[in-house]
Amino acid sequence: MDHRGLQSTQADTALLEKIFTRARSQNGWLDRAVPPAILEEIHDLACLAPTSMNCSPLRITYLVTTEAKERLRPALAAGNVDKMMTCPVVAIFATDFAFAERLPFLFPHTDGKGFFERNPHLVEDTALRNATLQAGYYMLAARALGLDCGPISGFDAKAVDAIFFGETALRSNFLCGLGHGDPAKLFARHPRLAFKDACTVL
Ligand SMILES: Cc1cc2nc3c(=O)[nH]c(=O)nc-3n(C[C@H](O)[C@H](O)[C@H](O)COP(=O)(O)O)c2cc1C
Repeated sequence: MDHRGLQSTQADTALLEKIFTRARSQNGWLDRAVPPAILEEIHDLACLAPTSMNCSPLRITYLVTTEAKERLRPALAAGNVDKMMTCPVVAIFATDFAFAERLPFLFPHTDGKGFFERNPHLVEDTALRNATLQAGYYMLAARALGLDCGPISGFDAKAVDAIFFGETALRSNFLCGLGHGDPAKLFARHPRLAFKDACTVL
């Protein structure tokens, strides 16, 4: 795909390839470590992307040791076990349904915490919408920094919540392997909807 029509520079084109046009969802991993510091770099970029009222409800638990990944194993769908267990880093993207507690810090010029206390029916939609958005931002930030992603929703979310989150307000949304993908394990690229099929301009 050629993006030069949008006046992008060569640097833009290289970044677009890393994030979109050449980036793929991974099914297997090369034996290459992920430096721990990059997890903070991903956070420091992705946390700048927008959420409603800056509510920032995504919480991430990174599984980096064999022991931590073994705790996850029983919750994985059979087809996802190998790709998660062999992955250098597995991120559990979770939603904090108590996100409003942080609004006095995150959105200090107004009473966001009180707003959600008065409108409890908005909490779930707001939490899920924004935590999912943030997980998308995180994957794009990880790609921009040179990592590959392998997102999966084929797992038992209730089991993951019981194993990792207990009685807290956190609930798992989806999991994502992070590392350097093995090109030999890629599936063929599936088609995407054309602009005319997915978009309406009024
Ligand atoms: C939220 C989410 C959940 C997914 N769940 C699974 C999964 O359980 N197992 C799997 O093999 N792939 C899963 N995928 C991968 C998708 O099938 C893949 O992203 C899509 O087909 C596009 O592939 P591409 O990025 O290589 O073009 C998931 C992707 C996302 C974003």
